[in-house]
Amino acid sequence: MDEFKEGKNYKLSIIRQDHNGRGIAKFNRYPIFIPYTLPGELIEVKITKSKKNYAEGLPEKLITVSKNRYKISCDYFYACGGCDIMHQRYQDGLSMKKRNLMELLYKFGKINVQLIKINDTVESDDIYNYRNKVTFHVKDNKIGLYKYKSKDLININECGIVNENFNKFLKIIKKYLTNSGISEITLRYGEYTDEMMVIFKTTKNIDEKIIKGITKNNEKIKSIYQLKSNKYKLLYGEEYIHEKLLDKTFRISPDSFFQVNTKQAEKLFENVLKYIDSKDKNILDLYCGIGVISIIISNNKRNIIGVDIVDSAIKDANINKEINNVKNVKFIREDVSNVLPVIKKANKHLDVIILDPPRTGIDKNSLKIINELLPKKLIYISCNPVTLARDLKDLKTNYDIKEITPYDMFPLTHHVESISLLVRK
Ligand SMILES: C[S@@+](CC[C@H](N)C(=O)[O-])C[C@H]1O[C@@H](n2cnc3c(N)ncnc32)[C@H](O)[C@@H]1O
Repeated sequence: MDEFKEGKNYKLSIIRQDHNGRGIAKFNRYPIFIPYTLPGELIEVKITKSKKNYAEGLPEKLITVSKNRYKISCDYFYACGGCDIMHQRYQDGLSMKKRNLMELLYKFGKINVQLIKINDTVESDDIYNYRNKVTFHVKDNKIGLYKYKSKDLININECGIVNENFNKFLKIIKKYLTNSGISEITLRYGEYTDEMMVIFKTTKNIDEKIIKGITKNNEKIKSIYQLKSNKYKLLYGEEYIHEKLLDKTFRISPDSFFQVNTKQAEKLFENVLKYIDSKDKNILDLYCGIGVISIIISNNKRNIIGVDIVDSAIKDANINKEINNVKNVKFIREDVSNVLPVIKKANKHLDVIILDPPRTGIDKNSLKIINELLPKKLIYISCNPVTLARDLKDLKTNYDIKEITPYDMFPLTHHVESISLLVRK
């Protein structure tokens, strides 16, 4: 647009936030997206991109400051692509997440959010240092995180949202990066078990002095792997680490999914327990990962089938069944879209289907079969409101959406997790 030239500064008023937490200013109806700004603020903005239908800019000076602005406690916030709403008061961020969820449900699912019980976002006990998993990138002896939407590395000394043990590790590993060939380091940690896993991605062999250096005086490191050509090779210690959720113990392999915010995951799964009652006997847990939900809801009166596509996740799930002495649960390694037709053909009676898909949501054919199986309840856990909305659109002909609760699983970022309860009409 002619009015907004790249590289020039303009004074703009922020009227609202978009679904990525960026402030939006408008000139007539033309939107300008400005990260790190909040509604009500007057900002001097440098335009970084000017297109026919929109522009983007960066704040140069805050002229009027929102009461919802919060102090930034990270040196890398403006450069890093990790957190994006650290500048926003926590409670205001929670309200934004609920509002975003409602808007996206309407936009992509045509869901009448005024008629549905949508609860306030459940806050996380830990706002900082909550992540039990992180992947640091390594380049030219520097280690850190990527810049927003880029592969430019920011060399960091610590990260405010990862477990504190990862920051201690970061200080030690910096001494060993020269000529190591390492391109990525993934760290996983069991908060209740104090067990840590380290995964080095490299095509070169890992020098013994690195293993010795990082394990010396660090008994938390229980397992070290090398990831090479998509294969995990154990270099040190145990093959797995463990974590507890709601007093059950879970074994975690290097490539198995596990919720990144342990305590918040417990709150989410307590809600799953609340939604299932004593009449619910036959339950299908789709996208089950290492079997967490199946195991938490299991009892000797219920038959549960868990399905996940990842081989190691199902191997973990079967061991987790034994560790927790659980009966009546069967885990299947298969694509959900292949399992549902078999269940349909077998005419299997189901009371509840639990769905916890990846960000891409549920495929069309699986949704079609769920609409034919018609269990009396569906419990849908989602980390992506856009695909949730799309899938609920397909399900709402046969189901009433009884309640949706957003969860702050990823504090200081715009991301929102949610759980929806659907009951057959
Ligand atoms: C968000 S995770 C949920 C895991 C589990 N419910 C939990 O809370 O630990 C999604 C899971 O879906 C699995 N997955 C992805 N696509 C799949 C598919 N087409 N069929 C079966 N599982 C799939 C992934 O391996 C991952 O474990």
